[in-house]
Amino acid sequence: MSERVPLIAGNWKMNLTPDEGRAWCDGFKARLATPPERVEIAVCPPFTALEAVVSSLVGYPAWVGSQTIHSQASGAHTGEISAEMVLATGAVGTILGHSERREAGETDEMVATRVRRALDAGLRVILCVGERLEQREAGETDAHVRAQVAAALARVDRGESQRIDIAYEPIWAIGTGRTATPEIAQETCAVVRDAASAHVDGGVIRVLYGGSVNDQNAAELLSQADIDGALVGGASLDVEKFAAIVEAA
Ligand code: PGA
Repeated sequence: MSERVPLIAGNWKMNLTPDEGRAWCDGFKARLATPPERVEIAVCPPFTALEAVVSSLVGYPAWVGSQTIHSQASGAHTGEISAEMVLATGAVGTILGHSERREAGETDEMVATRVRRALDAGLRVILCVGERLEQREAGETDAHVRAQVAAALARVDRGESQRIDIAYEPIWAIGTGRTATPEIAQETCAVVRDAASAHVDGGVIRVLYGGSVNDQNAAELLSQADIDGALVGGASLDVEKFAAIVEAA
């Protein structure tokens, strides 16, 4: 068991209004009044529910993050949200480079710029990397995730190792119910850690697994040496399942 405290982070994606977010928090706090000590919990709602979720979780040991930020602090960027705006809601982190955003056009360079921007503004980062099914089948997984990690961390300092977590999320496992086996997840999380070590402290940085994590498979995934937590999509919307994943950690 490493010294790294596991992180269980929920990515709500485009789900839950402020009222629904508040109800989720009330339910979660009732279900897990005293969370296990050696586990960190984070919740990443849509921008519109950030403030509601932050205020619902005051006094509860969980932090709140957004699902992306823009690369500029302000300006003529219709529809975008800056790191400063996220911070002003009381949120302290952000997911960056999620595959659903990369598929909508976010490049490695854009992800790298946003990572730097988030850290400069004072947000912590959950950076997502992962391969498509064709890439895994072609034996390109390691090279692909190494390139994603190298690009995203190019402007990050070793001293910032504790402010970044990396989530390895094979695209073929996201929202499909098709989880990577613990062996595959472990193997690629180790590659991610090794690639990250060129830029940050590999012993400090947390590598999470994401992709159809649920209350049934969490314990086995989380018992792997290089898996320091989980980024949970679908199952994070269900208070009971998310609480069970936290307990599994
Ligand atoms: P999933 O999503 O748990 O629904 O597969 C994970 C993610 O995309 O972060």
